[in-house]
Amino acid sequence: MTAQTGVILRTEHLSKHFGGLIAVDSLSISIHAGQIVGIIGPNGAGKTTAFNLISGVTVPTGGEIFLEDQCITSYPSHQVALLGLRRTFQEIHLFRGLTVLQNVKSAAYRQMTYSLRDAIAWSKKLREQEQAVIDQAMTLLERFGLAEFAMEPADSLPYGMQKRLEIVKAVVTFPKLLLLDEPAAGLNTQETIELMELICKIRDEMDMTVLIIEHSMEIIGGICDHVIVMNFGTKLAEGSWDEVHTNEEVIRCYLGVD
Ligand SMILES: Nc1ncnc2c1ncn2[C@@H]1O[C@H](COP(=O)(O)OP(=O)(O)OP(=O)(O)O)[C@@H](O)[C@H]1O
Ligand SMILES: [Mg+2]
Repeated sequence: MTAQTGVILRTEHLSKHFGGLIAVDSLSISIHAGQIVGIIGPNGAGKTTAFNLISGVTVPTGGEIFLEDQCITSYPSHQVALLGLRRTFQEIHLFRGLTVLQNVKSAAYRQMTYSLRDAIAWSKKLREQEQAVIDQAMTLLERFGLAEFAMEPADSLPYGMQKRLEIVKAVVTFPKLLLLDEPAAGLNTQETIELMELICKIRDEMDMTVLIIEHSMEIIGGICDHVIVMNFGTKLAEGSWDEVHTNEEVIRCYLGVD
């Protein structure tokens, strides 16, 4: 477990109403930098909606979101990403017609600063930046065991590798905070073990804070420093896995349910 440092993400009374349905209900959480934090809770508890609000995919109906000290409430997702927060989605979001490398490059382009004139002239500046992005993408693909598939179409990869590629795309710009929405869904036991190693590597070697929604208690209990339990759009409990999984209310609302 990493030493606890400052708060990197904070929500205050964050809410999202869809008509009469309250998906997120006055949710206040603090995420400490350098930790792997798990979010668990029953289906429909509002976990993904909370991620959508934090990452700027959806606009809140109430409350505030702070990334470090900056208020990012209602910022669009591209702006949130530029500030160092990236996320993956519950469903795979790859460009299916593109290769593995092209997919990673597409996620890294926001780092490039060339102009339209550079693009038309295929300038030296553009070529240098293009090469730097390719090098960076290949280094990450190597690191995450996908380099040998770099020129393969992304949709030709087995499901577990496609999930891993999604994570590579999210980390290629070296965000401070990475949000993973059910990265283990559909993975087999071996792939789940590899995923746990990969998430620890991202935190330990790439210096990122990781917030992860999961139904796999193997992952939550295995790698999370801190666990937040959601139910009916709000926080039911939080603490270490040992504290949370023995909490009677958590067992009654979530863990005890088949
Ligand atoms: N765009 C939307 N319009 C209307 N209702 C929505 C919308 N998105 C989510 N909801 C509802 O909000 C509630 C919370 O959904 P959410 O997807 O956040 O749950 P979740 O905790 O991620 O569940 P799961 O574990 O099944 O992924 C659910 O009742 C869902 O039907
Ligand atoms: Mg969800």
